[in-house]
Amino acid sequence: MASQEFTFTKFSSNEFYSALNARLVDMADVGSEQRIVDLACGTGGVTQLILERLMGARDSMVIGIDQSAAALKQAMDDLVGAYDAAVDFVHSGVERFSDAVKESVDTVFFCNAIHYMPDKDMIVQEISRSLKPGGKFAFNTSFFDGGQLPESLGFYRKWMFKSARVLRRDYGLSPVRSAKVESRRQLTADQYRELVEGHGFMVVRQEIDTVNVPIEGWLDISDFEDFIVGTMPGVPLEKASAALKRGVHLTFEEMNLEYVPRNWLGIVAVRV
Ligand SMILES: C[S@@+](CC[C@H](N)C(=O)[O-])C[C@H]1O[C@@H](n2cnc3c(N)ncnc32)[C@H](O)[C@@H]1O
Repeated sequence: MASQEFTFTKFSSNEFYSALNARLVDMADVGSEQRIVDLACGTGGVTQLILERLMGARDSMVIGIDQSAAALKQAMDDLVGAYDAAVDFVHSGVERFSDAVKESVDTVFFCNAIHYMPDKDMIVQEISRSLKPGGKFAFNTSFFDGGQLPESLGFYRKWMFKSARVLRRDYGLSPVRSAKVESRRQLTADQYRELVEGHGFMVVRQEIDTVNVPIEGWLDISDFEDFIVGTMPGVPLEKASAALKRGVHLTFEEMNLEYVPRNWLGIVAVRV
């Protein structure tokens, strides 16, 4: 059997997920003749949404950047040559993305990844430098202080408790609770706003979308390496993933759930 890959592909093909990213892309209202960067593009789900909105815009260019070579390969296979606008992918950390993007750009998207950044000031400064005056910066995240609804806290607690129990019982393992991973050190919506305003941006749209995530979403996120490492640090991926999936099944059953609502923060800011 081929070894399992713990990529973002499965999760990113959930309909609710592409719909909420599409809302952000529409909020940013990209026009034609654009140079657009999709930071932390992963397997290209958001890149595709941008390209779809650039139909007929043959002078436009989208540059996807990610540190995962495997994710970029999939994005390239799916998207290069398939749309009117040109698309290019660059293997790089977002911290050094201005090296990869020589000329200034009109819009930077940074979807579902800003929460990973240990030094958010540095990244937002870098984004500001890369944009033309009047250029837009659009980002979203559900890992902000406010992403989990108060009425769903019981779900997360039960899920993690049951998954840890399955891990102990089936594999004799426990997560190594050492350093708190960066995605858990969460900013509030207002702190995100202050972050971008502190780097010469004016926020033009700020929205919180409540999305009903069905069990498939929680199962698929349990196949994503970054999520697994964040929730079950120090545990082999395959075993942690299996325990998380069993845990979420048990929790949905016990709580008789159809879905768990989750908030996504979306912000569009203009470089003044
Ligand atoms: C949750 S996925 C989001 C993918 C896509 N932007 C979306 O919204 O569907 C996060 C992506 O961030 C990338 N990533 C995380 N830290 C990064 C860094 N420092 N530099 C570049 N990419 C990074 C990961 O490789 C992964 O592809």
